[in-house]
Amino acid sequence: MSSGSQHPTTNEAGIPVASDEHSLSVGADGPIVMHDHYLMEQMAAFNREMIPDRQPHAKGSGAFGHFEITQDVSQYTKAKFLQPGAKTDVLIRFSTVAGESGSPDTWRDPRGFSIKFYTEEGNFDMVGNNTPVFFVRDPMKFQHFIHSQKRRADNGLRDHDMQWDFWTLVPESAHQVAWLMGDRGVPATWRHMNGYSSHTYMWVNAEGERFWVKYHFKTDQGIKCMTQEQADQMAGSDADYHRRDLFEAIKRGDYPTWTLHMQIMPFEDAKTYRVNPFDLTKVWSHKDYPLIEVGKLTLDRNPTDFHSEIEQAAFEPNNMVPGTGLSPDKMLLARSISYADAHRARLGVNYKHIPVNTPKSPVHSYTQGGAMRIRHSTDPVYTPNSKGGPKADGQRYPEDAVWSTDGQFVRTAYTLRKDDDDWSQAHTLVREVMDDAQRDRLVSNVVGHLSGGVTEPVLERAFEYWRNIDQEVGERIEQGVRAQ
Ligand code: HEM
Repeated sequence: MSSGSQHPTTNEAGIPVASDEHSLSVGADGPIVMHDHYLMEQMAAFNREMIPDRQPHAKGSGAFGHFEITQDVSQYTKAKFLQPGAKTDVLIRFSTVAGESGSPDTWRDPRGFSIKFYTEEGNFDMVGNNTPVFFVRDPMKFQHFIHSQKRRADNGLRDHDMQWDFWTLVPESAHQVAWLMGDRGVPATWRHMNGYSSHTYMWVNAEGERFWVKYHFKTDQGIKCMTQEQADQMAGSDADYHRRDLFEAIKRGDYPTWTLHMQIMPFEDAKTYRVNPFDLTKVWSHKDYPLIEVGKLTLDRNPTDFHSEIEQAAFEPNNMVPGTGLSPDKMLLARSISYADAHRARLGVNYKHIPVNTPKSPVHSYTQGGAMRIRHSTDPVYTPNSKGGPKADGQRYPEDAVWSTDGQFVRTAYTLRKDDDDWSQAHTLVREVMDDAQRDRLVSNVVGHLSGGVTEPVLERAFEYWRNIDQEVGERIEQGVRAQ
């Protein structure tokens, strides 16, 4: 055994192997033989190491930790992990959206902010971003949006012209694009950004009372961002900067934390609120629905095997536990079926048997078989049965996270409310939330982006798009690009 080694090498069957260095051959100089099945195992495993990237959000990393309730929100939800004193293990994964798994962490892009809460009532997943809004409000547009951000069919290159072509033809993108082109489009690290559910979800209390809610995880490290210049420089010098930063912070005991705040809207308010509260391109005014503190999220444990714990992690917005639920947001409803489908395609039908995806609460389901099944099926394998098999318990999980609706099947946009338009909230962000220096950097970022290959007529539409958001900013962007 070589010095320092604890164990003799075995093959995957646990059988000690003869050599780590030499294949089996006919004499020292003769050919290798076909029955060297250990060599074959080495080559075959290697050839199958790579699994498909996630379609969007391929580049990322994550860590483990816990979530503790610090305030009493039991009047709004009966979810056990949200009750006073509760402490729940979590897995979190941060990511960029458009880049492949080896792409630079500091490309301008929204960041994914996915949390899996291993609650005693099953897994609860909050699959959010570092922005409170999104580019589109109908799931039919999502696939096209992602295509426009990724690579062209002909030369396999990313293309600003195609990005702005899409955005300017879809004005509902304005609010998220204004966010993206501002300082927060490149966070300094994942530790220095907030996480948002973006969507509206539901909470239900023990009396069956329903509330519409939005989750805001505010970084306790403070918001820090990179300028475009810093981001470009970092993309060249350390493409894995954000992944490295998180891992090293946790390794040295500098555990990042976030404080969870909620916006909570009484159920009936949704009918009359001045913007559609389920439109993902809009925020709710904090004056109307102030932030309510709930608890603290801490990351304190690094993965030890990136592939099995992070690459094979499967988050799904449909993982809701009693006391929580979805909302009529069409995007969210589509996401509630898209993710599990993606996991079945990428990881296989039994992806929830991979330890990182397995709930820490008991599972008594009726699924059977399938590739890579780990959990044992038990008899009876059908329901109804008179053999003592699991039985759905309407008492423990009443179907109360619901809303009523009626109407004919149509393919159409949301009904407009009084303050529903595509530009106002983007304008507020650019003119009232940003200060002069932030606005200057926004203009400079957009000028740089548009100067990177955007052609007429898309360019003219982009100037108009920005003038619709803010006349002065639009004019400055046009002057900046024309002066290039
Ligand atoms: C990843 C679909 C909108 C956040 C993904 C994946 C799919 C997907 C298929 C890859 C999943 C995987 O292979 O693990 C969709 C669809 C959307 C949508 C169909 C709209 C109709 C959104 C929105 C957000 C979001 C609005 C944020 C508010 C994320 C995050 C990931 C992700 C954070 C990465 C999850 C991880 O870390 O593993 N999305 N998405 N997505 N999506 Fe979405």
